[in-house]
Amino acid sequence: MSFTAVVMAAGKGTRMRSSTPKVLHDVCGLPMVHWPIRAARAAGATRVIVVTSPGGELDGHLPEGVETAVQPVADGTGGAVAAAAPLLDAEETVIVINGDAALIPAGPLTALIERHRAAGADATVATIRALDPSGYGRVIRDEDGSVLRIVETRSPGDATEAELAVDEINVGIYAFQGAALHAALPQLQSHNAQGELYLTDVLALADRAAAVDLGDPGLLVGINDRAELAQACETMQRRLLDDHMRSGVTVVSPTSTVVDADVVIGQDTVLEPGTVLRGATVVGRGCRIGPQVTLTDCTLHDEVTIRHAFGVEATAHDGVTIGPFAYLRPGTVLRDGAKVGTFVEVKNSDIGPGAKVPHLSYIGDADVGAGSNLGAATITANYDGRHKHRTTIGRDVRSGVDVSFVAPVTIGDGAVTGAGSVITKDVPAGALAIARARQTNLEDYAAGQDAAAPDGRGA
Ligand code: UD1
Ligand code: CA
Repeated sequence: MSFTAVVMAAGKGTRMRSSTPKVLHDVCGLPMVHWPIRAARAAGATRVIVVTSPGGELDGHLPEGVETAVQPVADGTGGAVAAAAPLLDAEETVIVINGDAALIPAGPLTALIERHRAAGADATVATIRALDPSGYGRVIRDEDGSVLRIVETRSPGDATEAELAVDEINVGIYAFQGAALHAALPQLQSHNAQGELYLTDVLALADRAAAVDLGDPGLLVGINDRAELAQACETMQRRLLDDHMRSGVTVVSPTSTVVDADVVIGQDTVLEPGTVLRGATVVGRGCRIGPQVTLTDCTLHDEVTIRHAFGVEATAHDGVTIGPFAYLRPGTVLRDGAKVGTFVEVKNSDIGPGAKVPHLSYIGDADVGAGSNLGAATITANYDGRHKHRTTIGRDVRSGVDVSFVAPVTIGDGAVTGAGSVITKDVPAGALAIARARQTNLEDYAAGQDAAAPDGRGA
């Protein structure tokens, strides 16, 4: 069932009150306009043409492989399709979709095309009987049910009282025969309440118009303002979470969990409340995530536990434990069974298998070998004010508490560093390095202080 899809995305979107084009607002990790494009492709579209405005605002924001047609002025949805018309064949079936129809999945598009072809129609509109039809185009039928036209109701003046009583609305997706579009588009007039070319007038101009009722009265058909945006995100998020739950992911609190469209999650993983998984994050099987974890473009392998943490472009291999209160920055790789504990920040570092950074540390630009244990408050001083340098720590190294490794520096396998050391020189394998001032005890110091204090109570 091959067809061409036209996605209209050149409108001004004034009701969003935003400097960002409406169709680029985020819906579950994707710009809004990606959703109808995905639906069209999932329904079998061989070509997708996106109608854009001349400003180039959508450049670089559209998925690979779409074609674009520029609508010179935003003179209405009829003008939008007219801009794409030179790219459309007379013989083909064309599906037109509003760029703000983010919640329309592939199923209704397929139903629309099937109905359109079965009816031998020139123009077919998808409709619902809306619980609240206000502002939408209404489908006007004659006594025997044939579709006569669509009347707009967004601005007063286009529809009569009787037409306003109709609850069957235009969802904003249509099937057209190419030839019928070519014939009707030049005839569109802007003598209407909005002074625009309405695509919906093509239904009245077509010889054979039809409609298919999608039967979902609660469907949010378009996103026009930020209240509808929030509603759409909520609906889409629930759909995405339901898919994950059906494929074996436990979501403890769906209303407090955010998972972007392209996130992958393995079976038997548990998402605790406050889990936010963004972008290209991939999670393996049997992980425990949350409460309160935000991960963007991260990769977790299997059986990873992460609580109260924030991660960006970090990787954790099997059996890693993270948090609570950890910050993983880009380039962090935690090997099998490694542990990053409480108040620990790791950046651009490779923490070896079974290695532990349990408390209060900053590990940046470092390689830490297998089995090493970095004591509380171990810090890598990776930046000399001009350049970043690496710290290389071998296998089974033990650093005492409060050790600074001043990079570049290399610590050999099995070495030990004393508490409070500032390590500026390489440490050979197996050595103990202590780099701190020796303790000096001044005898009878406190008594002398008491005598010196004017009020006799001491300092
Ligand atoms: C439109 C329909 C209405 C339907 C509703 C469903 C028309 C005239 N009306 O109204 O019957 O019930 O959708 O949501 O079509 N666009 C352009 N160029 C323009 C104007 C708009 O590309 O010059 C694009 C917009 O970016 C948007 C889509 O077309 O993605 C729909 O435009 P919008 O202004 O949202 O139409 P509605 O008033 O919602
Ligand atoms: Ca709209």
